[in-house]
Amino acid sequence: MKRIAREVLGEDYASRLWRRVEFIGDIALIRTPLGMDPRDLKPLAEELIRRLPYVKSVWAAIPGVLGEYRLRRHVWLAGEERSETIYREHGCLFRVDINKVYVSPSLNYEHIRVARLVKPGEVVVNMFAGAGLFSIIIAKYSKPRLVYSIDINPHAYNYMVENIELNKVKGVVEPILGDAKRVIEEKLVGVADRVLMPYPELALEYLPYALKALRDTRRWIHIYLHVYTGKNEHWRIKAKSIIEDKLRELGAKYSVENIRKIRNIGPRTHQVVGDVSIINK
Ligand SMILES: C[S@@+](CC[C@H](N)C(=O)[O-])C[C@H]1O[C@@H](n2cnc3c(N)ncnc32)[C@H](O)[C@@H]1O
Repeated sequence: MKRIAREVLGEDYASRLWRRVEFIGDIALIRTPLGMDPRDLKPLAEELIRRLPYVKSVWAAIPGVLGEYRLRRHVWLAGEERSETIYREHGCLFRVDINKVYVSPSLNYEHIRVARLVKPGEVVVNMFAGAGLFSIIIAKYSKPRLVYSIDINPHAYNYMVENIELNKVKGVVEPILGDAKRVIEEKLVGVADRVLMPYPELALEYLPYALKALRDTRRWIHIYLHVYTGKNEHWRIKAKSIIEDKLRELGAKYSVENIRKIRNIGPRTHQVVGDVSIINK
């Protein structure tokens, strides 16, 4: 990829594009570096189509994620002008439209890591499920009794329904369209052994509802956060104190068992996950 970029765009541009291409099914996504016009990437996109037979469509992603559905803006560059594809992860298939639902290969390891923690017979609530990746991979790799899989974006919900069929996990993953807060209050109080909160922007605000969804004792919450660190701060210590402060404020008894960095998302900005054992709520 770097070689193709160097040949087409020259050394300077190529060095700025390194590690900036993601493959989602047969779609290649080039993350446009700040200050660069996405149309300048067209020659590279055409070359990718010419040289990589498995790539059928190339889009540029504009920096940032927008709105409550967490969508990225994309500009079509080359190949078929199509934004829907089948994305494969851990042997599962996911139909997604990159312009209509959030999907990111950066969560690839996280999906299987959490799936492996789920014990047979567990009831899981996934508060921010997108097109169903965590929920379906959990259903395939562990033996949960039920995974309630909530998303507020109707497109994400529709793809989730289709992906449940596609992966033959109907009856194990229950798709729900709505605001996780309201869905939990209306029908999921005290049902869960484990709650997933894979949406950093709402995780702290919605933590009281995650606690409500849990059964009484010894349960798990996986909370995803964006953590900003100052000069002498360490991301792990900062993340732990953010989670602990919030749980203390909510009156829960807890133990933060593990904190892991998923990736850096900017200067001194880290996407992390905390695995929290809730001893009593
Ligand atoms: C970061 S994405 C989730 C990614 C997904 N879990 C995955 O593994 O691919 C966050 C999701 O939360 C959904 N969302 C935003 N606000 C919500 C709310 N109040 N209730 C439920 N879902 C919400 C968005 O539509 C989006 O699909």
